[in-house]
Amino acid sequence: MDKIIIQGGMRLKGEIDVSGSKNAVLPIMAAALLTEEESVIENVPSLWDVHTMVKLLRSLGAKAILENGCLKVKPGKNLKPLAPYKLVKTMRASVCVMGPLLARLGEVEVSLPGGCAIGPRPIDLHLKGLEALNATIDIQHGYVRATANKKLRGAEIYLGGAYGSSVLATGNVMMAAVLAAGKTVIENAACEPEVVDLALFLKKMGAKILGEGSPRLEIEGVRKLHGTDYRVIPDRIEAGTFMFAAAITGGDLLIRKMEPTHLNAVIDKLRQAGVRVDKFKNAVRVRKTGRLKPMDITTLPYPAFPTDLQAQAMALMAVTPGISVITEKIYPNRFMHVPELGRMGAKVYLEGPSAIVHGVKKLSGAPVMASDLRASAALVLAGLVAEGATEVQRVYHLDRGYEHLEQKLTSLGASIRREKE
Ligand code: EPU
Repeated sequence: MDKIIIQGGMRLKGEIDVSGSKNAVLPIMAAALLTEEESVIENVPSLWDVHTMVKLLRSLGAKAILENGCLKVKPGKNLKPLAPYKLVKTMRASVCVMGPLLARLGEVEVSLPGGCAIGPRPIDLHLKGLEALNATIDIQHGYVRATANKKLRGAEIYLGGAYGSSVLATGNVMMAAVLAAGKTVIENAACEPEVVDLALFLKKMGAKILGEGSPRLEIEGVRKLHGTDYRVIPDRIEAGTFMFAAAITGGDLLIRKMEPTHLNAVIDKLRQAGVRVDKFKNAVRVRKTGRLKPMDITTLPYPAFPTDLQAQAMALMAVTPGISVITEKIYPNRFMHVPELGRMGAKVYLEGPSAIVHGVKKLSGAPVMASDLRASAALVLAGLVAEGATEVQRVYHLDRGYEHLEQKLTSLGASIRREKE
């Protein structure tokens, strides 16, 4: 296992390009299964999760080749309807092959995803949606088996759960509905840019979808889809992580090849914190010019502040004078980074789904343990500003979702290196 060692105290400065979006490309790769024909997907980041998905596509019988950010997927005629535990357990997003395989083959068996460091992550909404489309669901021996009764049929589906909408459930049901007979209406659909990207990819394959980006999706089933080419959107969470990196190090970064409108809530919060953010067409410039001010953040579905930037925001709050508050409304237990930040001197108190952060003058470098992808990013950010060296262990979490993070940070002036543990 590798670890990352960061020598804190460097001010980040320069220009950086954002990679393709992990959470957009994973469902799009699954959607490519909806046809026999080849699809060509561009701007694909080289990440562990993407490589796991490539393995899953191959284990299902598809041809998949990823070279220089370009992924060619050719599912062919003979797909197997089984997503095994050994692949699903390493990546929850594997569940999004359920909708496409059910739609194409009339049956699918997918291992139930296991536990997750960020808290319980049920798939009841995925199953509710597929059942409404006329599938029978059977759960046995840790696997979900979905079978279409004769043919999937369009339906009206309210896709709401305890915490509101669901990104991957919306994707799964949308992917099944595009080949179902008749019209499907999904109410309370997730509006995240990654869901919009999936809908646009499906439309390029010949699907009939209206309303992407709104909570009401209307889908008119078609008999067949075809292969297509598509360019994935930039990763808004990676872009946001660099924005926090600029703020926390008192730096000045031009973050390019991104979509500023996907980060309006984050830009707003950073500005309230006294950070200067200038928006351009496909870039933002982030500078810390004066004293930081405390923040009050609640994570909610898009377009509000994303849960996937909560930990990174906490790293900034940890060194912001005054008292900041974060309320986590998507995953109320997503606070595994709190004790680790505490080891670096951060003062964070948990109160149910809220974290109260008392800003300290300085953090001090320490050995810390990454528990999940975004928690790892927060520890790296804290390490960039801490006094002395921070060792982040279990960095495979970072490799799941950040492309070339050390190289990118090094190019901006950070002192960061990877070592074998
Ligand atoms: N939920 C249910 N039932 C379901 C599905 C979800 O109750 O059937 C609940 C969840 O427990 C959670 C909320 O709904 O409280 C939202 O979960 P959602 O389904 O939207 O999450 P997801 O689709 O499984 C994606 C991202 C996550 C990101 C969330 C929220 C991918 C591959 N993953 O997960 O990304 O946090 O949306 O935006 O797209 C990450 O990248 O680090 C990551 C965890």
